[in-house]
Amino acid sequence: MKLNIAVLAGDGIGPEVTHEATKILKAVAEFGGHDFTFTPALIGGVAITAEGTPLPQKTIDISLASDAVLLGAVGDNKFNALPPNERPESGLLQIRQHLGGFANLRPCLAFAALSENSPLRPEVTKDVNILFVRELLGGLYFGEPREWNKTTGRAFNTMVYTRDEVVRVAKIAFELARKRKKKVTQVDKANVLECSQLWRATTDEVAKDFPDVTVEHQLVDSMAIHLMNRPRDFDVVLTENLFGDILSDESGVISGSLGMLPSATIGGKVNLYEPVHGSAPDIAGQGKANPLGAILTAAMILRHSADLEAEALAVEAAVAEILEAGHRTPDIARGDTKATVTTTQMGKLVHEALAQAIDREQAMHAV
Ligand code: IPM
Ligand code: MN
Repeated sequence: MKLNIAVLAGDGIGPEVTHEATKILKAVAEFGGHDFTFTPALIGGVAITAEGTPLPQKTIDISLASDAVLLGAVGDNKFNALPPNERPESGLLQIRQHLGGFANLRPCLAFAALSENSPLRPEVTKDVNILFVRELLGGLYFGEPREWNKTTGRAFNTMVYTRDEVVRVAKIAFELARKRKKKVTQVDKANVLECSQLWRATTDEVAKDFPDVTVEHQLVDSMAIHLMNRPRDFDVVLTENLFGDILSDESGVISGSLGMLPSATIGGKVNLYEPVHGSAPDIAGQGKANPLGAILTAAMILRHSADLEAEALAVEAAVAEILEAGHRTPDIARGDTKATVTTTQMGKLVHEALAQAIDREQAMHAV
């Protein structure tokens, strides 16, 4: 298997966590005799500093020429005063547009070993397995017109969706639900917004082609509370861009930390993979970042871009194993944690667990 991966490490903790994720991918390639290549490129604040733009043309070219893009994080407080279209975040929004992926898959798993980390009781989070399907190329993030008029003191953004934009992402949600618990919860604000009414009606239309999948609708405000009260009731959660941004962050409470959440964006020219957490400038460069979100993102590359499902499962199992063994970065440590591990140590632990699992597997085949 040959895979050419563009690595856009970005800002803050981005480089630290993507480094650990690429090490895991290299190990998988080595064990399985695959040919994975990694091409670094600049994005976000580091690109502004080096090239004067958050998304240099070279990065676009490298990304479009790759089989998958692994992105760390963007965002740096240094650029907070800039208008939205010049900030590091705009580099991320632009690369999403160039790659064209509209379905952002954000799984939220409750790892048993972290059940005491969540402020939610373990019996509430036990066995939670939600897949958020966040629409990534529409809505308020990209809608025109948009403006902050400093003279009039008036600002506006536009939430806009077409039926086709909803259909294509809804289809992906239903197809994925078919392989899971066969339930789609579509989230909107249909009691107030026309856009949401379009989402609701269109989802119901798409649902007709998936009679084996149950569909329900939730308003985003009540969904925020249902997610905390009864997260086990949800399977696939389908929603528009901004609501998906907010609800997927909220789901970090279920997993025990935002640092645990991976994501994959599919449906476009090249799939884009990024952990859900941001650049966390407050802890950048200190070895405190949790690389597990990025490592689980690497597992999603194996699953969705390399068709290496067994290897993806092996990486996920290695993560679960080292959590079971009690290893913790500061974000998932608790008062009674004896000692925390650094970003690099955590990456190494996952690597070792993975290597041992592969050795066991090979030993089994040898018998
Ligand atoms: C995310 C991030 C981004 C988003 C920001 C950095 C633009 O919060 O991936 O969830 O809002 O999509
Ligand atoms: Mn976000």
